[in-house]
Amino acid sequence: MFDPTFLASPYVRTLAPYVPGKPLEELEREYGIRDSIKLASNENPLGPGPLARAAIANAARDIGLYPDGNGFALKQALAQKHGCALEQITLGNGSNDVLVMLAEAFLTADSEAVFSQYAFAVYPIVVQAAGAKAQVAAAFPESHPMALGHDLDAMVALVNERTRLVFIANPNNPTGTWVSSAALHRFLTLMPSTTLVVVDEAYIEYVEDGDFPDASRWLDEFPNLVVTRTFSKAYGLAGLRVGYALSDPGVASLMNRVRQAFNVNSVALAAARAALDDVEHLRASITTNREGMAQVGQALSRIGIRSYPSKGNFILVDCQRPAAAVYEAMLRQGVIVRPVASYELPHHLRLTIGTQPQNQRMLDALERSLAS
Ligand SMILES: Cc1ncc(COP(=O)(O)O)c(C=O)c1O
Repeated sequence: MFDPTFLASPYVRTLAPYVPGKPLEELEREYGIRDSIKLASNENPLGPGPLARAAIANAARDIGLYPDGNGFALKQALAQKHGCALEQITLGNGSNDVLVMLAEAFLTADSEAVFSQYAFAVYPIVVQAAGAKAQVAAAFPESHPMALGHDLDAMVALVNERTRLVFIANPNNPTGTWVSSAALHRFLTLMPSTTLVVVDEAYIEYVEDGDFPDASRWLDEFPNLVVTRTFSKAYGLAGLRVGYALSDPGVASLMNRVRQAFNVNSVALAAARAALDDVEHLRASITTNREGMAQVGQALSRIGIRSYPSKGNFILVDCQRPAAAVYEAMLRQGVIVRPVASYELPHHLRLTIGTQPQNQRMLDALERSLAS
């Protein structure tokens, strides 16, 4: 019998695939329900703003042509936003693509990568697919004020001469935890020049704390720093897949060698370029999140369910029982949230912040599910 498993690279053979949030269509098909809501993948409940929508309609006329493989117009706008050179920018088909490029360009079977327990699930996947060894630092314990967050000292202790990549998600998904400016800066000073530090800022636009580190400001100080950003969250373009890395030009040039030609499509390039100008929509998205976070936080306290402080557009809750049953009961009420058992958090659920009515529906479903 044909069994391709043994034909695969040994790294791929044992790889557990990424589990995405359940799509709405799948839920409605399986459960025979309608009008369900998805608060499972940290998407922006407002979607794209008017400028991006107009750019999408406009760009759709030209999809018979290949996109600009260098993404010049978008890079130019990003270079202006971040005060960096075009050569420091690598565009990705989502920031996920940029993480893959980093692993492909810098990891081998002899090298190692460091990340924290409970860090974003794509890090272990890209590291293993490249055949490198993952060194996972224990997260802060439940008793710590930043429970489940990255313990940078524990991460430093795992770095050695074989370490090529360190991943720090700030804020982190699914925990919502973060590292301070002082702690992150100190960490960077401790890294050898043989290690690239990837600071994943997928949710940074939602952070309203003035002391929060925008690591892109330190690119000149630390040539081994790579900062990743995305248009999938606060910019509302998750379905189009656009993200980017900011780095030393030499690092960008190496990433470019493994980048697929035309990896970012023309509609996505145009939408992302327009989204950068839509300050009003970005502001509305941040406000919706701030108000939703307060609404959900207050309701969770009232219900008596433990949640973790979060600076993202989602909140991790501890159901104090196997969360799979709670998740299932919520699905039956047409509400998709995210179980995080794959992060070794079988009692937890991650709730994405939606619009006010979506949040209310999610909270009602959660309360009912916990009572059943
Ligand atoms: C921390 C973090 N980094 C990166 C990503 C990847 O996002 P995208 O590939 O849509 O840019 C996500 C998506 O959920 C995330 O949570």
